[in-house]
Amino acid sequence: MPVAVYLLIRYTAVQGELMSSFSINPVNLMHTMTLALDLAVDGVNMHQQRTAVICKYIAEQIGMKQPDKQTLLCAALMHDIGAAPYLEERRLIYSAYPHDDKISIYRHAEDGYQLLLDSQCFSHTAEAVRHHHDRWQGGNPSGFSGADIPLFSRIIHVADRAEISMHTSRPTSAQCEMVCENIRTGHPGSFDQDVVDAFMASSRLESFWLDMNNTLYAVNFHNNVDWSYTSFTDRDMLNIAKLYSTIIDRTSRFTATHSRSVSRVAALLADLYGFSRQEVYLMRMAGLLHDLGKLSVPNAILEKPGKLDPDEVRIIRQHTYYTYRILEQIDNMETVACWAAYHHETLDGKGYPFHLRDEQLSLGSRIMAVADIFVALTENRPYRKPMKMDKVEKIMRTMADSNKISGRIVELMMDARDTANCIVRDADSKMLEALGQSS
Ligand SMILES: [Fe+2]
Ligand SMILES: [Fe+2]
Ligand SMILES: [Fe+2]
Repeated sequence: MPVAVYLLIRYTAVQGELMSSFSINPVNLMHTMTLALDLAVDGVNMHQQRTAVICKYIAEQIGMKQPDKQTLLCAALMHDIGAAPYLEERRLIYSAYPHDDKISIYRHAEDGYQLLLDSQCFSHTAEAVRHHHDRWQGGNPSGFSGADIPLFSRIIHVADRAEISMHTSRPTSAQCEMVCENIRTGHPGSFDQDVVDAFMASSRLESFWLDMNNTLYAVNFHNNVDWSYTSFTDRDMLNIAKLYSTIIDRTSRFTATHSRSVSRVAALLADLYGFSRQEVYLMRMAGLLHDLGKLSVPNAILEKPGKLDPDEVRIIRQHTYYTYRILEQIDNMETVACWAAYHHETLDGKGYPFHLRDEQLSLGSRIMAVADIFVALTENRPYRKPMKMDKVEKIMRTMADSNKISGRIVELMMDARDTANCIVRDADSKMLEALGQSS
């Protein structure tokens, strides 16, 4: 049997779902993955987290029951997911008046709806996200007005605008009058008066304002929410990783299918190396999430045609730091965090961001580094064709010779190059199809 055919069969076999399970705490997972959606150049801005805190107060004020409260909070924590790939657009959304004609505030709500609808774990939140900027008096693209707009969306709308009107540089407790006035009169015709009344009632509590700015509460918030209606299996975790990889790959048209290809190539190498089924599964997940920290990098830098200046290089290089810092917080995901986030570390200790070397880099991390380079060199980019295989081989062998990446894994990569190339070509053609072009 030709080697490429044999490898393709092996590769197809490892795409099956894992039989065994590992435990995923929903509280921990929700907290961590929503932080990723709020990544900014200088860390995490807590917009969605704080919006969810306000929603919780409003829900309690109107006596909302479980599991509706849980759906509301889940939607609030991800309500701007449609804007997550576009850091510049997020800045505008967080600063502009919602109906400012410079930006279609509805676009990210619709994008978020589409993303969530396709996700097995969060599809129940899709409608709430779709309408979170719909105005009570109508004139919305959805054609909805008044009580047609889902209650979850009406609550998120008020909470979102209240959060945005708060200045991060001042204590929230000193801003209560300004924020209440903004909600009362700043958005005529936008809000459900019953929701505004519930917001005003909540705002009389000092704890409401103090909870907003308290980082200790941000952690406890999730412990105080009853997530008992939510559970995640390892299959769900893979689906969530796929959802995030879609968002990550949207950050730049230059790398529109990169995460999926890296995931598949890394899983192929792990399988060939003799990793267990469980480990291959974790490798798939790590590949999908390896560039998660790119959500902290402005699109203008990711897509800059010319040479990057030193500050821009520093910002690009922070992406693996955030990949690690986000993933390390998920229980039982330490292995995935290391495999995913160390792909720019090098064996000679001159990589980034932790400057790890040799024995500090596990086999899984070395595999990810090789898979990432192979995919980057062979994938179709709008500004260049895929590199020829003999050139790819030369570059990778030179990197191995200069102690950047593992020579043993480069050998394995070269043995599997035809299969790996099929994986990358397949992703490329799907991307071109989606763009309405032919390859
Ligand atoms: Fe929004
Ligand atoms: Fe928002
Ligand atoms: Fe990367």
